Amino acid sequence: MTYPITVRSLSYRRTGILRASPGMKTENRAEDAEEVQKGLTMSDSAQNAYDKVLYPSYMHSQTHPDRLATVAILFGMQPAPIGHCRVLELGCGDGGTLIPIAYDLADSELVGIDLAVRPIAKGREAIQSLGLKNIDLRQGSIMDVPADLGQFDYIIAHGVYSWIPTAVQDKLMAVCRANLAPNGVAYVSYNTLPGCHLREMVRQMLLYHVRDVSVPQEKIDQAVALIRFLAESQVKPDSYRQLLKEELEQILEHGAPQLFHDELAEINTPAYFHQFMAQAARHGLQYLGEADFYEMQDHIYTPQTTQALNRLANDRLTREQYLDFLKCRRFRQTLLCHHEVTLDPSPKPGAVARFHLSSAARPVSPNPAIQGSLTVRFEGKRGAAMETDFPLAKAAMQVLGEVWPQAISFGELLEQAAGRSRAPGSGDGAVRTEDVQALCEILFRTYSNGLVELHLHVPHYAKDVSEKPAASPIARWQAQNGENVTTLRHLSIVIEDQLGRHLLTLLDGTRDRAALLRDLSAFIRDQAAAAISSEKPAVDIEAALAELPSDLDNNLRKLARLGLLVA
Ligand SMILES: C[S@@+](CC[C@H](N)C(=O)[O-])C[C@H]1O[C@@H](n2cnc3c(N)ncnc32)[C@H](O)[C@@H]1O
Repeated sequence: MTYPITVRSLSYRRTGILRASPGMKTENRAEDAEEVQKGLTMSDSAQNAYDKVLYPSYMHSQTHPDRLATVAILFGMQPAPIGHCRVLELGCGDGGTLIPIAYDLADSELVGIDLAVRPIAKGREAIQSLGLKNIDLRQGSIMDVPADLGQFDYIIAHGVYSWIPTAVQDKLMAVCRANLAPNGVAYVSYNTLPGCHLREMVRQMLLYHVRDVSVPQEKIDQAVALIRFLAESQVKPDSYRQLLKEELEQILEHGAPQLFHDELAEINTPAYFHQFMAQAARHGLQYLGEADFYEMQDHIYTPQTTQALNRLANDRLTREQYLDFLKCRRFRQTLLCHHEVTLDPSPKPGAVARFHLSSAARPVSPNPAIQGSLTVRFEGKRGAAMETDFPLAKAAMQVLGEVWPQAISFGELLEQAAGRSRAPGSGDGAVRTEDVQALCEILFRTYSNGLVELHLHVPHYAKDVSEKPAASPIARWQAQNGENVTTLRHLSIVIEDQLGRHLLTLLDGTRDRAALLRDLSAFIRDQAAAAISSEKPAVDIEAALAELPSDLDNNLRKLARLGLLVA
Protein backbone atom coordinates (compact mmCIF):
# COMPACT_ATOMS: atom_id res chain seq x y z
CA MET A 1 0.00 0.00 0.00
CA THR A 2 1.38 3.40 -0.93
CA TYR A 3 0.48 6.75 0.49
CA PRO A 4 0.79 9.15 -2.38
CA ILE A 5 -0.24 12.73 -2.03
CA THR A 6 -3.19 12.77 -4.35
CA VAL A 7 -3.48 16.24 -5.69
CA ARG A 8 -6.26 17.37 -7.92
CA SER A 9 -6.76 20.72 -9.43
CA LEU A 10 -10.21 21.92 -8.41
CA SER A 11 -11.27 22.47 -11.94
CA TYR A 12 -10.74 18.78 -12.61
CA ARG A 13 -12.71 17.59 -9.63
CA ARG A 14 -14.33 14.38 -10.70
CA THR A 15 -15.61 12.67 -7.57
CA GLY A 16 -19.25 11.62 -7.79
CA ILE A 17 -20.15 13.74 -4.82
CA LEU A 18 -23.89 13.41 -4.75
CA ARG A 19 -25.90 10.47 -5.89
CA ALA A 20 -29.65 10.34 -5.60
CA SER A 21 -32.73 9.22 -7.39
CA PRO A 22 -36.25 10.23 -6.41
CA GLY A 23 -37.16 8.83 -3.03
CA MET A 24 -33.67 7.43 -2.47
CA LYS A 25 -31.09 8.48 0.06
CA THR A 26 -28.36 10.88 -1.12
CA GLU A 27 -24.72 10.08 -0.54
CA ASN A 28 -22.70 13.17 0.23
CA ARG A 29 -19.03 13.68 0.74
CA ALA A 30 -18.69 13.53 4.52
CA GLU A 31 -17.33 17.07 4.57
CA ASP A 32 -20.27 18.49 2.57
CA ALA A 33 -22.85 16.61 4.61
CA GLU A 34 -21.28 17.86 7.83
CA GLU A 35 -21.39 21.43 6.55
CA VAL A 36 -25.02 21.22 5.56
CA GLN A 37 -25.81 19.48 8.86
CA LYS A 38 -24.21 22.32 10.84
CA GLY A 39 -26.63 24.69 9.16
CA LEU A 40 -29.57 22.59 10.27
CA THR A 41 -28.62 22.75 13.91
CA MET A 42 -28.16 26.52 13.99
CA SER A 43 -30.71 28.99 15.17
CA ASP A 44 -32.33 30.57 12.14
CA SER A 45 -32.45 34.00 13.71
CA ALA A 46 -30.35 36.55 11.86
CA GLN A 47 -28.69 33.80 9.80
CA ASN A 48 -28.41 34.37 6.08
CA ALA A 49 -28.04 31.44 3.72
CA TYR A 50 -24.23 31.71 3.88
CA ASP A 51 -24.40 31.31 7.66
CA LYS A 52 -26.65 28.29 7.41
CA VAL A 53 -24.38 26.48 4.97
CA LEU A 54 -20.80 27.70 4.57
CA TYR A 55 -19.72 28.40 1.00
CA PRO A 56 -16.67 26.38 -0.10
CA SER A 57 -13.65 28.62 0.30
CA TYR A 58 -11.10 28.71 -2.51
CA MET A 59 -8.39 31.00 -3.80
CA HIS A 60 -9.49 32.51 -7.10
CA SER A 61 -6.21 33.34 -8.79
CA GLN A 62 -7.95 35.42 -11.45
CA THR A 63 -8.77 38.01 -8.76
CA HIS A 64 -5.16 38.44 -7.57
CA PRO A 65 -3.89 42.02 -8.06
CA ASP A 66 -1.06 40.50 -10.11
CA ARG A 67 -3.62 39.45 -12.73
CA LEU A 68 -5.63 42.69 -12.56
CA ALA A 69 -2.54 44.88 -12.88
CA THR A 70 -1.20 42.78 -15.77
CA VAL A 71 -4.35 43.26 -17.87
CA ALA A 72 -4.47 46.95 -16.89
CA ILE A 73 -0.88 47.53 -18.08
CA LEU A 74 -1.56 45.76 -21.37
CA PHE A 75 -4.42 48.17 -22.00
CA GLY A 76 -2.23 51.17 -21.29
CA MET A 77 -3.02 51.87 -17.63
CA GLN A 78 -0.55 52.58 -14.88
CA PRO A 79 -2.02 50.70 -11.94
CA ALA A 80 -0.59 50.87 -8.42
CA PRO A 81 2.41 48.61 -7.79
CA ILE A 82 0.95 45.48 -6.25
CA GLY A 83 3.71 45.25 -3.66
CA HIS A 84 2.30 48.38 -1.99
CA CYS A 85 -1.39 48.61 -2.73
CA ARG A 86 -4.80 48.66 -1.07
CA VAL A 87 -7.29 45.89 -1.87
CA LEU A 88 -10.99 45.71 -1.01
CA GLU A 89 -13.06 42.55 -1.43
CA LEU A 90 -16.86 42.82 -1.36
CA GLY A 91 -18.57 39.57 -0.34
CA CYS A 92 -15.25 38.08 0.74
CA GLY A 93 -16.75 35.02 2.48
CA ASP A 94 -14.20 33.57 4.91
CA GLY A 95 -11.26 35.23 3.16
CA GLY A 96 -10.38 32.15 1.05
CA THR A 97 -9.01 34.50 -1.60
CA LEU A 98 -8.02 37.55 0.42
CA ILE A 99 -5.98 35.77 3.12
CA PRO A 100 -3.52 34.13 0.67
CA ILE A 101 -3.17 37.50 -1.10
CA ALA A 102 -2.44 39.20 2.25
CA TYR A 103 0.29 36.62 2.93
CA ASP A 104 1.68 37.05 -0.57
CA LEU A 105 1.64 40.88 -0.57
CA ALA A 106 2.93 41.52 2.93
CA ASP A 107 3.34 45.29 2.42
CA SER A 108 -0.13 45.81 1.01
CA GLU A 109 -3.30 46.50 2.97
CA LEU A 110 -6.44 44.41 2.52
CA VAL A 111 -10.02 44.84 3.68
CA GLY A 112 -12.79 42.26 3.22
CA ILE A 113 -16.50 42.80 3.84
CA ASP A 114 -19.19 40.14 4.06
CA LEU A 115 -22.73 40.05 5.36
CA ALA A 116 -22.48 36.55 6.83
CA VAL A 117 -21.30 36.11 10.42
CA ARG A 118 -19.84 32.60 10.40
CA PRO A 119 -17.51 32.98 7.40
CA ILE A 120 -16.11 36.25 8.78
CA ALA A 121 -15.50 34.60 12.18
CA LYS A 122 -13.75 31.67 10.44
CA GLY A 123 -11.60 34.03 8.39
CA ARG A 124 -10.61 36.07 11.44
CA GLU A 125 -9.59 32.89 13.24
CA ALA A 126 -7.29 32.04 10.32
CA ILE A 127 -5.83 35.55 10.28
CA GLN A 128 -5.10 35.39 13.99
CA SER A 129 -3.50 31.94 13.78
CA LEU A 130 -1.34 33.10 10.89
CA GLY A 131 -0.39 36.35 12.62
CA LEU A 132 -1.29 38.46 9.57
CA LYS A 133 -1.35 42.18 10.34
CA ASN A 134 -2.22 43.60 6.91
CA ILE A 135 -5.74 42.27 6.53
CA ASP A 136 -9.03 43.20 8.15
CA LEU A 137 -12.24 41.19 7.63
CA ARG A 138 -15.41 43.05 8.57
CA GLN A 139 -18.91 41.73 8.96
CA GLY A 140 -21.39 44.07 7.29
CA SER A 141 -23.35 44.79 4.16
CA ILE A 142 -22.14 46.21 0.88
CA MET A 143 -25.08 48.60 1.35
CA ASP A 144 -23.29 50.16 4.30
CA VAL A 145 -19.81 50.63 2.82
CA PRO A 146 -19.01 54.26 3.59
CA ALA A 147 -17.24 56.50 1.09
CA ASP A 148 -14.73 57.33 3.84
CA LEU A 149 -13.49 53.73 3.91
CA GLY A 150 -10.89 55.27 1.65
CA GLN A 151 -9.64 54.54 -1.84
CA PHE A 152 -8.49 51.15 -3.02
CA ASP A 153 -6.23 50.29 -5.92
CA TYR A 154 -8.00 46.99 -6.52
CA ILE A 155 -11.61 46.08 -5.70
CA ILE A 156 -12.76 42.47 -6.02
CA ALA A 157 -16.33 41.10 -6.06
CA HIS A 158 -16.27 37.44 -7.07
CA GLY A 159 -19.44 35.33 -7.12
CA VAL A 160 -21.53 38.08 -5.59
CA TYR A 161 -23.14 40.35 -8.23
CA SER A 162 -25.62 37.82 -9.67
CA TRP A 163 -26.84 36.71 -6.26
CA ILE A 164 -27.79 40.06 -4.74
CA PRO A 165 -30.85 42.31 -5.23
CA THR A 166 -30.69 45.10 -7.83
CA ALA A 167 -30.30 47.77 -5.14
CA VAL A 168 -27.21 46.00 -3.76
CA GLN A 169 -25.82 45.56 -7.30
CA ASP A 170 -26.18 49.29 -7.74
CA LYS A 171 -24.42 49.98 -4.47
CA LEU A 172 -21.64 47.54 -5.46
CA MET A 173 -21.08 49.59 -8.62
CA ALA A 174 -21.27 52.81 -6.59
CA VAL A 175 -18.53 51.49 -4.27
CA CYS A 176 -16.43 50.58 -7.33
CA ARG A 177 -16.75 54.24 -8.35
CA ALA A 178 -16.45 56.00 -4.98
CA ASN A 179 -13.78 53.82 -3.39
CA LEU A 180 -11.61 53.05 -6.41
CA ALA A 181 -8.38 55.01 -6.77
CA PRO A 182 -8.09 57.04 -10.04
CA ASN A 183 -5.89 54.34 -11.60
CA GLY A 184 -7.66 51.52 -9.79
CA VAL A 185 -9.05 48.29 -11.24
CA ALA A 186 -12.30 46.64 -10.15
CA TYR A 187 -13.03 42.96 -10.78
CA VAL A 188 -16.69 41.91 -10.89
CA SER A 189 -17.75 38.40 -11.92
CA TYR A 190 -21.33 37.57 -12.91
CA ASN A 191 -23.53 35.04 -14.64
CA THR A 192 -24.10 35.96 -18.27
CA LEU A 193 -26.69 35.43 -20.94
CA PRO A 194 -27.22 33.78 -23.32
CA GLY A 195 -25.34 30.86 -21.66
CA CYS A 196 -27.31 31.10 -18.45
CA HIS A 197 -30.63 30.65 -20.23
CA LEU A 198 -29.79 26.93 -20.28
CA ARG A 199 -28.77 26.97 -16.65
CA GLU A 200 -31.83 29.02 -15.75
CA MET A 201 -34.12 26.44 -17.34
CA VAL A 202 -32.71 23.75 -15.05
CA ARG A 203 -32.71 26.08 -12.04
CA GLN A 204 -36.41 26.88 -12.46
CA MET A 205 -37.30 23.19 -12.59
CA LEU A 206 -35.22 22.55 -9.46
CA LEU A 207 -36.81 25.48 -7.62
CA TYR A 208 -40.27 24.22 -8.54
CA HIS A 209 -39.41 20.75 -7.30
CA VAL A 210 -38.13 21.98 -3.89
CA ARG A 211 -40.77 24.71 -3.49
CA ASP A 212 -42.14 23.22 -0.26
CA VAL A 213 -38.81 22.08 1.20
CA SER A 214 -37.10 24.25 3.79
CA VAL A 215 -34.39 21.99 5.18
CA PRO A 216 -31.11 22.59 3.25
CA GLN A 217 -30.04 18.95 3.08
CA GLU A 218 -33.41 17.85 1.83
CA LYS A 219 -33.45 20.63 -0.76
CA ILE A 220 -30.10 19.44 -2.07
CA ASP A 221 -31.18 15.77 -2.10
CA GLN A 222 -34.32 16.54 -3.97
CA ALA A 223 -32.68 18.88 -6.46
CA VAL A 224 -30.07 16.27 -7.37
CA ALA A 225 -32.71 13.58 -7.49
CA LEU A 226 -34.81 15.57 -9.96
CA ILE A 227 -32.03 16.43 -12.35
CA ARG A 228 -30.75 12.86 -12.28
CA PHE A 229 -34.25 11.60 -12.96
CA LEU A 230 -34.66 13.99 -15.91
CA ALA A 231 -31.22 13.30 -17.33
CA GLU A 232 -31.42 9.54 -17.06
CA SER A 233 -35.06 8.78 -17.89
CA GLN A 234 -34.48 8.91 -21.59
CA VAL A 235 -35.95 6.78 -24.30
CA LYS A 236 -33.42 7.86 -26.91
CA PRO A 237 -30.63 10.39 -26.68
CA ASP A 238 -31.57 13.90 -27.78
CA SER A 239 -30.17 17.39 -27.29
CA TYR A 240 -32.39 18.08 -24.26
CA ARG A 241 -31.13 14.98 -22.39
CA GLN A 242 -27.58 15.79 -23.37
CA LEU A 243 -27.95 19.25 -21.92
CA LEU A 244 -29.44 17.91 -18.69
CA LYS A 245 -26.63 15.38 -18.40
CA GLU A 246 -24.05 18.14 -18.71
CA GLU A 247 -25.83 20.18 -16.04
CA LEU A 248 -25.97 17.13 -13.79
CA GLU A 249 -22.24 16.53 -14.23
CA GLN A 250 -21.47 20.12 -13.29
CA ILE A 251 -23.72 20.02 -10.26
CA LEU A 252 -22.13 16.78 -9.03
CA GLU A 253 -18.67 18.18 -9.65
CA HIS A 254 -19.27 21.35 -7.65
CA GLY A 255 -20.68 19.72 -4.55
CA ALA A 256 -23.61 20.23 -2.20
CA PRO A 257 -22.86 23.67 -0.67
CA GLN A 258 -22.34 25.19 -4.10
CA LEU A 259 -25.58 23.69 -5.44
CA PHE A 260 -27.40 25.11 -2.43
CA HIS A 261 -26.00 28.62 -2.90
CA ASP A 262 -25.73 28.83 -6.67
CA GLU A 263 -28.61 26.92 -8.28
CA LEU A 264 -31.07 26.93 -5.40
CA ALA A 265 -30.47 30.52 -4.28
CA GLU A 266 -33.48 32.77 -4.00
CA ILE A 267 -31.76 35.31 -6.27
CA ASN A 268 -29.61 34.29 -9.22
CA THR A 269 -30.00 36.86 -11.95
CA PRO A 270 -27.83 36.51 -15.06
CA ALA A 271 -27.36 39.52 -17.32
CA TYR A 272 -26.28 40.21 -20.86
CA PHE A 273 -22.86 41.81 -21.04
CA HIS A 274 -24.39 44.98 -22.53
CA GLN A 275 -26.80 45.23 -19.59
CA PHE A 276 -23.98 44.84 -17.08
CA MET A 277 -21.91 47.45 -18.88
CA ALA A 278 -24.84 49.87 -19.08
CA GLN A 279 -25.15 49.69 -15.30
CA ALA A 280 -21.38 50.15 -14.87
CA ALA A 281 -21.47 53.18 -17.20
CA ARG A 282 -24.24 54.78 -15.13
CA HIS A 283 -21.74 54.69 -12.27
CA GLY A 284 -18.93 56.30 -14.23
CA LEU A 285 -17.07 53.03 -14.93
CA GLN A 286 -15.78 51.72 -18.25
CA TYR A 287 -14.79 48.33 -19.64
CA LEU A 288 -11.13 47.48 -19.19
CA GLY A 289 -11.12 43.79 -20.15
CA GLU A 290 -11.53 40.26 -18.81
CA ALA A 291 -9.40 38.80 -16.04
CA ASP A 292 -8.62 35.90 -18.40
CA PHE A 293 -7.04 37.71 -21.33
CA TYR A 294 -7.57 34.75 -23.69
CA GLU A 295 -11.34 35.10 -23.18
CA MET A 296 -11.25 38.31 -25.24
CA GLN A 297 -9.66 36.60 -28.24
CA ASP A 298 -11.35 35.20 -31.32
CA HIS A 299 -8.51 32.95 -32.45
CA ILE A 300 -10.56 29.79 -31.90
CA TYR A 301 -12.78 30.81 -34.81
CA THR A 302 -12.17 30.60 -38.53
CA PRO A 303 -10.93 33.72 -40.39
CA GLN A 304 -14.42 33.96 -41.96
CA THR A 305 -16.02 34.11 -38.52
CA THR A 306 -13.54 36.75 -37.38
CA GLN A 307 -14.28 38.82 -40.49
CA ALA A 308 -18.03 38.56 -39.86
CA LEU A 309 -17.45 39.55 -36.23
CA ASN A 310 -15.49 42.60 -37.37
CA ARG A 311 -18.35 43.61 -39.67
CA LEU A 312 -20.92 43.19 -36.89
CA ALA A 313 -18.98 45.05 -34.26
CA ASN A 314 -16.73 48.04 -34.69
CA ASP A 315 -16.29 48.84 -31.02
CA ARG A 316 -14.98 46.73 -28.14
CA LEU A 317 -18.25 46.45 -26.22
CA THR A 318 -20.31 45.29 -29.17
CA ARG A 319 -17.61 42.85 -30.13
CA GLU A 320 -17.58 41.38 -26.62
CA GLN A 321 -21.37 41.01 -26.75
CA TYR A 322 -21.23 39.13 -30.05
CA LEU A 323 -18.44 36.95 -28.66
CA ASP A 324 -20.86 35.96 -25.87
CA PHE A 325 -23.43 35.03 -28.49
CA LEU A 326 -20.81 32.96 -30.32
CA LYS A 327 -19.53 31.25 -27.19
CA CYS A 328 -22.91 30.98 -25.47
CA ARG A 329 -21.02 32.44 -22.51
CA ARG A 330 -22.41 31.83 -19.03
CA PHE A 331 -19.89 33.58 -16.81
CA ARG A 332 -17.74 36.68 -17.03
CA GLN A 333 -14.93 38.09 -14.92
CA THR A 334 -14.98 41.68 -16.04
CA LEU A 335 -12.46 44.34 -15.12
CA LEU A 336 -13.66 47.93 -14.83
CA CYS A 337 -11.91 51.25 -14.36
CA HIS A 338 -12.94 54.90 -14.13
CA HIS A 339 -14.39 56.28 -17.35
CA GLU A 340 -11.84 59.14 -17.24
CA VAL A 341 -8.94 56.72 -17.82
CA THR A 342 -7.57 56.70 -21.37
CA LEU A 343 -7.12 53.13 -22.50
CA ASP A 344 -5.15 51.68 -25.38
CA PRO A 345 -7.66 49.25 -26.93
CA SER A 346 -4.93 47.32 -28.79
CA PRO A 347 -2.29 45.91 -26.45
CA LYS A 348 1.22 46.02 -27.92
CA PRO A 349 3.26 42.79 -28.10
CA GLY A 350 6.37 44.68 -26.96
CA ALA A 351 4.73 45.01 -23.53
CA VAL A 352 5.62 41.40 -22.69
CA ALA A 353 9.19 42.62 -22.07
CA ARG A 354 7.90 44.26 -18.86
CA PHE A 355 6.76 40.99 -17.30
CA HIS A 356 7.93 37.73 -15.84
CA LEU A 357 6.76 34.78 -17.91
CA SER A 358 5.81 31.21 -17.11
CA SER A 359 4.46 28.30 -19.11
CA ALA A 360 3.78 24.63 -18.58
CA ALA A 361 4.04 23.99 -22.33
CA ARG A 362 6.32 21.19 -23.47
CA PRO A 363 7.67 20.32 -26.91
CA VAL A 364 5.77 17.40 -28.40
CA SER A 365 8.98 15.89 -29.76
CA PRO A 366 11.40 14.37 -27.21
CA ASN A 367 14.32 15.87 -29.18
CA PRO A 368 13.08 19.20 -30.49
CA ALA A 369 15.28 20.85 -33.10
CA ILE A 370 15.86 24.23 -31.46
CA GLN A 371 18.56 25.48 -33.80
CA GLY A 372 17.75 25.54 -37.50
CA SER A 373 14.45 26.02 -39.25
CA LEU A 374 12.49 22.87 -38.42
CA THR A 375 9.06 23.56 -36.92
CA VAL A 376 8.55 22.49 -33.30
CA ARG A 377 5.16 22.12 -31.64
CA PHE A 378 4.62 22.96 -27.96
CA GLU A 379 1.51 21.89 -26.07
CA GLY A 380 0.18 23.10 -22.75
CA LYS A 381 -2.96 22.82 -20.66
CA ARG A 382 -6.56 22.87 -21.92
CA GLY A 383 -5.46 22.07 -25.46
CA ALA A 384 -3.46 25.29 -25.91
CA ALA A 385 -0.61 24.80 -28.38
CA MET A 386 1.84 26.69 -30.61
CA GLU A 387 4.16 25.84 -33.48
CA THR A 388 7.13 27.85 -34.61
CA ASP A 389 10.26 27.48 -36.69
CA PHE A 390 11.89 30.59 -35.21
CA PRO A 391 14.91 29.34 -33.20
CA LEU A 392 14.77 32.11 -30.58
CA ALA A 393 11.09 31.41 -29.83
CA LYS A 394 11.63 27.63 -29.81
CA ALA A 395 14.46 28.10 -27.31
CA ALA A 396 12.37 30.49 -25.18
CA MET A 397 9.48 28.01 -24.98
CA GLN A 398 11.93 25.25 -24.10
CA VAL A 399 13.44 27.36 -21.30
CA LEU A 400 9.98 28.20 -19.92
CA GLY A 401 9.02 24.51 -19.87
CA GLU A 402 12.19 23.64 -18.00
CA VAL A 403 11.87 26.29 -15.29
CA TRP A 404 8.11 25.74 -14.87
CA PRO A 405 6.45 26.32 -12.42
CA GLN A 406 8.84 29.22 -11.82
CA ALA A 407 8.44 32.42 -13.80
CA ILE A 408 11.45 34.26 -15.19
CA SER A 409 11.91 37.83 -16.35
CA PHE A 410 11.83 38.57 -20.05
CA GLY A 411 15.48 39.72 -19.92
CA GLU A 412 16.64 36.47 -18.38
CA LEU A 413 14.52 34.44 -20.79
CA LEU A 414 15.97 36.30 -23.76
CA GLU A 415 19.51 35.71 -22.57
CA GLN A 416 19.01 31.98 -22.03
CA ALA A 417 17.05 31.53 -25.24
CA ALA A 418 19.67 33.44 -27.27
CA GLY A 419 22.41 31.15 -25.96
CA ARG A 420 20.51 28.02 -26.98
CA SER A 421 19.28 29.18 -30.35
CA ARG A 422 22.64 30.26 -31.77
CA ALA A 423 24.22 27.90 -34.24
CA PRO A 424 27.63 26.57 -33.07
CA GLY A 425 30.44 28.94 -33.98
CA SER A 426 28.14 31.91 -34.64
CA GLY A 427 29.55 33.89 -31.70
CA ASP A 428 27.64 35.39 -28.82
CA GLY A 429 26.77 38.85 -30.13
CA ALA A 430 23.67 40.77 -29.06
CA VAL A 431 20.32 39.58 -30.37
CA ARG A 432 19.09 41.74 -33.26
CA THR A 433 16.29 44.17 -32.42
CA GLU A 434 13.98 42.67 -35.04
CA ASP A 435 14.51 39.20 -33.50
CA VAL A 436 13.59 40.54 -30.05
CA GLN A 437 10.47 42.09 -31.57
CA ALA A 438 9.59 38.82 -33.30
CA LEU A 439 10.03 36.96 -30.01
CA CYS A 440 7.72 39.47 -28.26
CA GLU A 441 5.10 38.98 -30.99
CA ILE A 442 5.19 35.21 -30.60
CA LEU A 443 5.14 35.30 -26.80
CA PHE A 444 2.27 37.77 -26.85
CA ARG A 445 0.29 35.45 -29.11
CA THR A 446 0.99 32.50 -26.82
CA TYR A 447 -0.19 34.63 -23.89
CA SER A 448 -3.34 35.47 -25.85
CA ASN A 449 -4.16 31.80 -26.34
CA GLY A 450 -3.48 30.91 -22.72
CA LEU A 451 -0.21 29.01 -23.26
CA VAL A 452 2.03 31.52 -21.49
CA GLU A 453 1.24 33.50 -18.33
CA LEU A 454 2.48 37.00 -17.57
CA HIS A 455 3.27 38.15 -14.04
CA LEU A 456 4.39 41.34 -12.38
CA HIS A 457 5.10 39.68 -9.13
CA VAL A 458 6.93 36.42 -8.55
CA PRO A 459 5.84 34.65 -5.38
CA HIS A 460 8.67 33.32 -3.26
CA TYR A 461 8.55 29.58 -3.04
CA ALA A 462 11.25 26.96 -2.94
CA LYS A 463 11.94 25.10 -6.14
CA ASP A 464 14.00 22.45 -4.36
CA VAL A 465 13.49 20.49 -1.15
CA SER A 466 15.81 21.76 1.58
CA GLU A 467 17.27 19.78 4.47
CA LYS A 468 14.48 20.92 6.79
CA PRO A 469 11.64 21.76 4.41
CA ALA A 470 9.01 24.31 5.39
CA ALA A 471 5.55 24.55 3.83
CA SER A 472 3.68 27.79 3.40
CA PRO A 473 2.02 28.71 6.73
CA ILE A 474 -1.30 29.22 4.92
CA ALA A 475 -1.21 25.73 3.45
CA ARG A 476 -0.24 24.25 6.83
CA TRP A 477 -3.17 25.97 8.49
CA GLN A 478 -5.53 24.89 5.73
CA ALA A 479 -4.31 21.28 5.85
CA GLN A 480 -5.15 21.21 9.55
CA ASN A 481 -8.64 22.45 8.82
CA GLY A 482 -9.75 20.70 5.63
CA GLU A 483 -8.81 19.30 2.24
CA ASN A 484 -8.40 22.54 0.29
CA VAL A 485 -4.96 24.06 0.19
CA THR A 486 -3.74 27.22 -1.53
CA THR A 487 -0.38 27.10 -3.23
CA LEU A 488 2.03 30.03 -3.42
CA ARG A 489 1.25 30.06 -7.13
CA HIS A 490 -2.28 31.16 -6.18
CA LEU A 491 -3.97 27.86 -7.02
CA SER A 492 -6.47 25.97 -4.90
CA ILE A 493 -5.91 22.24 -4.84
CA VAL A 494 -7.37 19.34 -2.92
CA ILE A 495 -5.03 17.08 -0.98
CA GLU A 496 -7.25 14.09 -0.58
CA ASP A 497 -5.38 11.72 1.67
CA GLN A 498 -4.90 12.22 5.36
CA LEU A 499 -1.23 11.29 5.36
CA GLY A 500 -0.49 13.90 2.69
CA ARG A 501 -2.22 16.57 4.75
CA HIS A 502 -0.43 15.41 7.88
CA LEU A 503 2.91 15.67 6.09
CA LEU A 504 2.08 19.26 5.16
CA THR A 505 1.32 20.15 8.78
CA LEU A 506 4.68 18.68 9.86
CA LEU A 507 6.65 20.86 7.46
CA ASP A 508 7.37 23.77 9.79
CA GLY A 509 11.08 23.93 8.99
CA THR A 510 12.20 22.16 12.19
CA ARG A 511 12.19 18.58 10.92
CA ASP A 512 14.77 16.94 8.71
CA ARG A 513 14.01 13.84 6.68
CA ALA A 514 14.68 11.46 9.60
CA ALA A 515 12.35 13.40 11.90
CA LEU A 516 9.66 13.47 9.21
CA LEU A 517 9.95 9.72 8.70
CA ARG A 518 9.70 9.16 12.46
CA ASP A 519 6.58 11.33 12.83
CA LEU A 520 4.89 9.95 9.74
CA SER A 521 5.55 6.38 10.89
CA ALA A 522 3.93 7.20 14.24
CA PHE A 523 0.96 8.67 12.37
CA ILE A 524 0.57 5.52 10.25
CA ARG A 525 0.65 3.34 13.38
CA ASP A 526 -1.96 5.54 15.07
CA GLN A 527 -4.16 5.38 11.99
CA ALA A 528 -3.84 1.60 11.88
CA ALA A 529 -4.76 1.32 15.57
CA ALA A 530 -7.74 3.62 15.05
CA ALA A 531 -8.87 1.51 12.08
CA ILE A 532 -8.79 -1.64 14.21
CA SER A 533 -10.72 -0.09 17.10
CA SER A 534 -13.39 1.32 14.76
CA GLU A 535 -13.56 -1.98 12.82
CA LYS A 536 -12.54 -0.30 9.57
CA PRO A 537 -10.51 -2.28 6.97
CA ALA A 538 -7.08 -3.11 8.38
CA VAL A 539 -4.06 -1.13 7.17
CA ASP A 540 -0.99 -3.09 6.03
CA ILE A 541 1.41 -1.26 8.33
CA GLU A 542 4.56 -3.10 7.30
CA ALA A 543 4.05 -2.38 3.62
CA ALA A 544 3.17 1.25 4.33
CA LEU A 545 6.26 1.75 6.47
CA ALA A 546 8.52 0.03 3.95
CA GLU A 547 7.41 2.40 1.20
CA LEU A 548 7.41 5.48 3.35
CA PRO A 549 10.99 6.70 2.62
CA SER A 550 10.57 6.73 -1.16
CA ASP A 551 7.02 8.09 -0.87
CA LEU A 552 8.31 10.89 1.32
CA ASP A 553 10.94 11.93 -1.22
CA ASN A 554 8.44 11.83 -4.08
CA ASN A 555 5.86 13.77 -2.14
CA LEU A 556 8.29 16.46 -0.99
CA ARG A 557 9.32 17.00 -4.60
CA LYS A 558 5.66 17.16 -5.58
CA LEU A 559 4.96 19.76 -2.90
CA ALA A 560 7.89 21.85 -4.14
CA ARG A 561 6.66 21.64 -7.70
CA LEU A 562 3.18 22.72 -6.67
CA GLY A 563 4.59 25.83 -5.00
CA LEU A 564 3.82 24.74 -1.46
CA LEU A 565 7.31 24.99 0.05
CA VAL A 566 8.82 28.28 1.14
CA ALA A 567 12.43 29.19 0.50
C1 LIG B 1 -21.05 32.96 -3.46
S1 LIG B 1 -20.36 33.70 -2.06
C2 LIG B 1 -18.79 34.18 -2.67
C3 LIG B 1 -17.74 34.31 -1.61
C4 LIG B 1 -16.36 34.61 -2.14
N1 LIG B 1 -16.30 35.88 -2.82
C5 LIG B 1 -15.88 33.50 -3.04
O1 LIG B 1 -15.85 33.70 -4.26
O2 LIG B 1 -15.55 32.41 -2.57
C6 LIG B 1 -21.22 35.24 -1.93
C7 LIG B 1 -20.89 36.02 -0.68
O3 LIG B 1 -21.50 37.31 -0.76
C8 LIG B 1 -21.96 37.64 0.54
N2 LIG B 1 -23.00 38.67 0.45
C9 LIG B 1 -24.24 38.56 -0.05
N3 LIG B 1 -24.90 39.71 0.08
C10 LIG B 1 -24.06 40.59 0.67
C11 LIG B 1 -24.14 41.95 1.07
N4 LIG B 1 -25.25 42.65 0.90
N5 LIG B 1 -23.07 42.51 1.66
C12 LIG B 1 -21.94 41.82 1.85
N6 LIG B 1 -21.81 40.53 1.49
C13 LIG B 1 -22.85 39.92 0.91
C14 LIG B 1 -22.45 36.33 1.09
O4 LIG B 1 -22.56 36.35 2.50
C15 LIG B 1 -21.40 35.36 0.58
O5 LIG B 1 -20.36 35.19 1.49
